[in-house]
Amino acid sequence: MDKRTVAVAITGASGALYAVRTLAALLERECHVELIVTEYGRRLLHDELGDGATVDKLADYLAARYGDGVKKGSFTLYSNRDLGAKLASGSQGCDAMAIVPCSMKTLAAVAHGLSRTLVERAADVMLKERRTLVIVPRETPMSLPQLRNMVLCAEAGAMILPAMPAFYQMPRTLDDLADFMAGKILGALGFTHRLYPSWEG
Ligand SMILES: Cc1cc2nc3c(=O)[nH]c(=O)nc-3n(C[C@H](O)[C@H](O)[C@H](O)COP(=O)(O)O)c2cc1C
Repeated sequence: MDKRTVAVAITGASGALYAVRTLAALLERECHVELIVTEYGRRLLHDELGDGATVDKLADYLAARYGDGVKKGSFTLYSNRDLGAKLASGSQGCDAMAIVPCSMKTLAAVAHGLSRTLVERAADVMLKERRTLVIVPRETPMSLPQLRNMVLCAEAGAMILPAMPAFYQMPRTLDDLADFMAGKILGALGFTHRLYPSWEG
């Protein structure tokens, strides 16, 4: 079983379910998660998942939704305003980061290296240190600047993993779709998983 420290950022794009499933799957793998939730990420958690999914209740929410397996891991929540947090430095021990879901605003900031918030700075650190950065953008349709920002991030070394669940695994529930996206993200972060059945041809 992998025991790693991974950074997860939740921003204000639709798809909070993808974020909590990814977080739960990392905790089930005994990871320590360095977690940052932007102001609009907090709003999306509440608006899409309900009163129980506020950041202060997140540990209880994850255990209630996904079971006690999430207690095998741990997470630390950082303020997005704290540019002195360890994630802001290349000397911290996180070798991978996922921004899930990623708003077009945060995408633009990462594409242009703005580093104004902890999410933006931590992503910039991943790129400059040549570590794994997985960006899960969600928007439709997309403007040319948004498409170009994805290209800039990909050119800088990030993996663009759009929030585009597939249907060949015959999903029946929203959780099936979230499992698929979380599985894709875990794979990109370097974990093995069985969150969805592999394609057998
Ligand atoms: C309910 C709701 C849904 C949103 N969905 C999206 C979305 O899917 N994609 C996106 O790029 N922005 C979306 N936004 C807009 C972002 O939240 C907004 O641009 C915000 O400034 C992003 O800030 P952040 O990246 O710091 O979280 C949504 C906003 C709200 C309130």
